[in-house]
Amino acid sequence: MKICIINGPNLNLLGKREPETYGDCSFEDFYETLKKDFPLIEFDYFQSNHEGALIDQLQKVGFHCDGIILNPAAFSHTSIAIADTIRALPTPVIEVHISNIYKREAFRRHSYVSEVAQGVISGFGLHSYKLAVYSLMNA
Ligand code: DQA
Repeated sequence: MKICIINGPNLNLLGKREPETYGDCSFEDFYETLKKDFPLIEFDYFQSNHEGALIDQLQKVGFHCDGIILNPAAFSHTSIAIADTIRALPTPVIEVHISNIYKREAFRRHSYVSEVAQGVISGFGLHSYKLAVYSLMNA
């Protein structure tokens, strides 16, 4: 089974960025433990701060892998373009958020991606990504 993880803007700063909200672990360190926790799964990881690059990556992997775990970050709340890309893909997309977006500012409560994602996992820290892996494994 192949799962592609795609992270949006500012998630390259995990570990340094607002640690009270996002924790103090870098995604790269977390990714190493994730791969060890699920040795039978083939993972692919991509991060970009650019909307178009995220769309290109979704189009690139979205016809070939078994599932996508997407944290669109701030683009969740703004990007009809990313939502349209997901609509075009045959692969299930799980939307994840590290923080609980419903517990924060009002503008974070709406996500265009949630309307097209298979499911949404929000608020469990980096564990949100693991929960997304479990959900894809059981799909
Ligand atoms: C986030 C939540 C978004 O509202 C925010 O813009 C992010 C990260 C999360 O993982 O909690 O950058 O997607």
